[in-house]
Amino acid sequence: MTFPPKLSPLQSRFAASLVASLVLLAVYVFLTKPHFAYAVELDARIPREDHNHYLILDEGDSDLFGDGTYCEQEEASLVARAEAGVSALANNDPQNRNINIGETQHWVFPQESIDGPGGAIGPGLPSENVEERDLDQNLHGLRKRQDGKRVYITINTCLQPSSNTTGDGPNKSIPPQLQMYISLSERDQRPGPGSGDTVDVDGGYALYEVDATSDVYIGVSGPNTTDFTGIWNYEIAASIDAPYHGSKPNVANLHFVDSDNHAALLITNDTTQAQPNETLYQEWMDLTPPWGVFAANQNETAILGVKNSFCGLKNTARIAANVPGFESQNVAKMTNRGLGGKPKEQFYITGLNATSRYWGFLVMNGNSTAYGNGVVGGGGTVWQAINFQTKTEDNCALMYNLSFCSEVAYAVPTNPNRFAPTTGLPELAALYDSNAAQMYQYFNYSLQQIPCNTTSSAQYSLARNCDDCARAYKQWLCAVTIPRCSDFSSNDPWLKPRNLGRPFANGSSISASQLNIDQALLNAVATNSSRNPMIDNSIQPGPYKEVLPCKDLCYDLVQSCPAALGFACPLERAGLEDSYGSRSNDSGVISCSYLGAAYYLSGAETMAPGAMRNVALLVFAVLLMNLF
Ligand SMILES: *[C@@H]1O[C@H](CO)[C@@H](O)[C@H](O)[C@H]1NC(C)=O
Ligand SMILES: *[C@@H]1O[C@H](CO)[C@@H](O)[C@H](O)[C@H]1NC(C)=O
Ligand SMILES: *[C@@H]1O[C@H](CO)[C@@H](O)[C@H](O)[C@H]1NC(C)=O
Ligand SMILES: *[C@@H]1O[C@H](CO)[C@@H](O)[C@H](O)[C@H]1NC(C)=O
Ligand SMILES: *[C@@H]1O[C@H](CO)[C@@H](O)[C@H](O)[C@H]1NC(C)=O
Ligand SMILES: *[C@@H]1O[C@H](CO)[C@@H](O)[C@H](O)[C@H]1NC(C)=O
Ligand SMILES: *[C@@H]1O[C@H](CO)[C@@H](O)[C@H](O)[C@H]1NC(C)=O
Ligand SMILES: *[C@@H]1O[C@H](CO)[C@@H](O)[C@H](O)[C@H]1NC(C)=O
Ligand SMILES: *[C@@H]1O[C@H](CO)[C@@H](O)[C@H](O)[C@H]1NC(C)=O
Ligand SMILES: *[C@@H]1O[C@H](CO)[C@@H](O)[C@H](O)[C@H]1NC(C)=O
Ligand SMILES: *[C@@H]1O[C@H](CO)[C@@H](O)[C@H](O)[C@H]1NC(C)=O
Ligand SMILES: *[C@@H]1O[C@H](CO)[C@@H](O)[C@H](O)[C@H]1NC(C)=O
Repeated sequence: MTFPPKLSPLQSRFAASLVASLVLLAVYVFLTKPHFAYAVELDARIPREDHNHYLILDEGDSDLFGDGTYCEQEEASLVARAEAGVSALANNDPQNRNINIGETQHWVFPQESIDGPGGAIGPGLPSENVEERDLDQNLHGLRKRQDGKRVYITINTCLQPSSNTTGDGPNKSIPPQLQMYISLSERDQRPGPGSGDTVDVDGGYALYEVDATSDVYIGVSGPNTTDFTGIWNYEIAASIDAPYHGSKPNVANLHFVDSDNHAALLITNDTTQAQPNETLYQEWMDLTPPWGVFAANQNETAILGVKNSFCGLKNTARIAANVPGFESQNVAKMTNRGLGGKPKEQFYITGLNATSRYWGFLVMNGNSTAYGNGVVGGGGTVWQAINFQTKTEDNCALMYNLSFCSEVAYAVPTNPNRFAPTTGLPELAALYDSNAAQMYQYFNYSLQQIPCNTTSSAQYSLARNCDDCARAYKQWLCAVTIPRCSDFSSNDPWLKPRNLGRPFANGSSISASQLNIDQALLNAVATNSSRNPMIDNSIQPGPYKEVLPCKDLCYDLVQSCPAALGFACPLERAGLEDSYGSRSNDSGVISCSYLGAAYYLSGAETMAPGAMRNVALLVFAVLLMNLF
């Protein structure tokens, strides 16, 4: 929605100088044509669609085309005019401007806008608390009448100066933050260094909230520094509805699932705890993915200067998923894979470098369905950043989206020569998946011999039925036939080396010196081959390390299935440790493989160990021997 160009008295006072400014501007632009290159570049990077340009041009606008270098003559007149240069903000109407090192710019959110109509607040994301939301909005409306309206002033740093020193260290590469100053007093209409309330900008973001009855005056200044050159560019907005820009630096809502040497899989928290048969669940699953992700290599530390700014991340990050307007897009979609089977959004991020640490920033573009001028919260929101890292070796491939083992989402052993990293994944996935499905079919035949669907008194157990058994078997089977792969070069103690006797994909073998040390390992069948012969025969990944399946998967299988099926887990200190791993108390460590694993999301479904049974090995002895 747009506002008619209505001039406040303050604005009218300067309207006279508008013509003069435009003439000056034209002369300036004409004289300094090369600067257009920057303007075009800036325009391409910053969405500036449908801004209402009814504002009075002042010293800031004239510099939109520049990099801070004025002609001497012009500078004199521009600065003279700047003595009174204050630009007006309208409700939910962001303004974008360049600012030089050491410069201060002034804005006002006039009373007319504060008393004016609010914007239309959308329905938001699916939620069960629709009534609560409405109530909130009514309360909000009530409070407006009492002690002035609540006003939200927000700022996003979009571009920042770059370091002109070669030294290392974060202080040398992260420019100082802009400062915001607020004044509610008629007598101080130009707050800046030394006057007004100081609002610290953090990571390129600041929010100032106040119940206002009259004009709100805002100053923005670029701190003085000699270690950096260039300009800042920022977006400032005022709203009587909700903060136009959002930042939730303390709210974790993104998690790292796994990576290979060029891609990573990230997921959000569960978006609802609703049951699959409830409409809320379906609403989420049918939703166009509402979040996006930016990713940045951690050696590009300057991005920390804008880590809470949607606009800053959009201009600075090189990698994005599901952010409209960004060049190379990665895939995002809603999924119900993972612990509990609840809806969540997943991001498959490619184009990463090997052996690198990255930051991942969860963001929302505007309110997720609309953004920009006139949209309540149209400036976007940024959540807490996460760390993740890519693998070194090329023989682990991140795999997800299988049809039978649909819960698998981690790196698996691969051979890059047989399955091209970018195009061969579906074929690799089909190979693992059909192998597991085939084995499940054998199991199914056996399960059909068991009296499952009789009266409860004839069932093998009152606590578990055949459906439990089938579920536990599938979980176990997928985790065991599709091993979770880790770098061979990783030294994490819980990893199991595999396939040591075979050559790497590049043809080289483990060196003789390494073999001398590890001769015992090589002699053991478990480390000289893969867990699953299909891998050695059809994939031939060469040496890799495996994150062993969690032992609770095996216990759950034994507990859930009828004894007649003859499942048994190996005993502790008699083979269990070679085949299964234990969960870590540290949620930042995935020390054993279970379906739905993600870093910093603890496995809520952990099975209690205990019911180890000495069940005679019958029907599945051979199958299990191979897989254990
Ligand atoms: C930067 O330094 C100049 C000269 O000392 C001063 O006029 C200006 O106010 C300073 N700017 C800020 C933002 O502190
Ligand atoms: C986002 O804002 C637009 C325009 O105000 C509105 O139509 C839409 O419903 C909002 N979306 C959500 C998810 O609230
Ligand atoms: C950085 O660049 C600015 C402007 O070009 C200059 O004034 C300043 O002295 C430079 N600082 C260093 C440490 O080179
Ligand atoms: C997401 O889950 C994590 C870990 O369970 C929790 O700490 C965090 O508060 C959750 N975030 C949201 C937005 O619910
Ligand atoms: C959904 O299923 C659960 C059992 O799984 C049942 O208790 C509940 O009543 C069902 N809800 C609806 C809305 O059908
Ligand atoms: C990967 O490394 C190249 C240089 O080797 C660098 O130019 C590029 O920005 C890096 N990409 C990412 C996503 O880190
Ligand atoms: C960042 O790391 C990548 C490798 O991941 C490297 O290619 C690039 O040159 C590094 N960039 C900087 C600025 O150090
Ligand atoms: C072959 O690959 C392995 C594992 O990635 C690596 O350790 C080794 O140095 C490579 N050998 C050659 C000759 O590139
Ligand atoms: C996931 O698999 C389905 C078929 O099983 C396919 O249609 C879809 O394109 C795949 N999605 C991704 C993101 O790979
Ligand atoms: C076993 O196979 C039959 C026929 O293919 C199928 O109907 C049934 O659902 C399967 N049982 C399980 C537990 O998957
Ligand atoms: C038991 O019967 C129910 C309904 O008759 C069926 O859905 C289920 O698949 C059966 N379970 C097995 C293991 O055959
Ligand atoms: C390890 O496996 C390789 C390849 O299958 C084989 O040639 C070698 O003899 C095995 N070594 C031992 C000690 O079993």
